[in-house]
Amino acid sequence: EASQKPPSQCVGPEYRPATMKPTATVSTEIPHENVHILPQTPQLIALLTMIRDKDTGRADFIFYSNRIIRLLVEEGLNHLPVIEHTITTPVGRTYSGVKFEGKICGVSIMRAGESMEQGLRDCCRSVRIGKILIQRDEETAKPKLFYDKLPEDIADRWVLLLDPMLATGGSALMAVDVLKSRGVPEERILFLNLIASPEGARNFAQQFPKLRVVTAFVDEGLNEKNYIVPGLGDFGDRFYTM
Ligand code: PRP
Ligand code: URA
Repeated sequence: EASQKPPSQCVGPEYRPATMKPTATVSTEIPHENVHILPQTPQLIALLTMIRDKDTGRADFIFYSNRIIRLLVEEGLNHLPVIEHTITTPVGRTYSGVKFEGKICGVSIMRAGESMEQGLRDCCRSVRIGKILIQRDEETAKPKLFYDKLPEDIADRWVLLLDPMLATGGSALMAVDVLKSRGVPEERILFLNLIASPEGARNFAQQFPKLRVVTAFVDEGLNEKNYIVPGLGDFGDRFYTM
């Protein structure tokens, strides 16, 4: 059965014979240079399988989400500029390396985006974090802006915008408008996201071609309630209250 799936649908170690390879649905590809999808490794797919499962309880949902968030943050940091930096090792030899250049901050789209703050802090100690409270209307799925509190010098920083779900794209588009109104240039915004719908990712990438998106997975689509499918349900509820 495994060998009947097209290669893009296969995931698993190459050294196994085709008949023994695990297969899995992997991310949809989208033709936008500014959307970076994490490599579809067996590890990532296993973590996503855990959080997508409706029978996964809250403690496991948090644990496995945090592991994916860490991968997103590490990949996101690869998109920040570095400058050459040469150091001397304890054995007296020089090593030509690099170091990060420029200031950063995180901005979470509340509530679900707050779940990604700790992953960012684990990699960037004492990073400044701003908040934008945007909620989708349950009936219409239209976003509404309630509140924002951002670092004063945000216009001089690289911004890591955090939200695990990109469905219609309405919330993320609104958040970027807030950032741009505070003087943050589009090219200094990096959107870190767990699961995107193809239409959300497309809208976002077309509207902001200079902004980079790092996502773990582009899913199949949206249902009639504008939930991502197959998706994982309501991320905020599963992480915070369920
Ligand atoms: C969810 C999610 C995104 C948004 C995505 O938030 O965290 O912010 O929906 O949907 P969109 O792309 O169609 O705008 P929600 O408003 O449900 O609030 P929550 O974070 O409190 O769960
Ligand atoms: N918000 C979520 O948490 N899940 C979806 O599928 C869509 C929006």
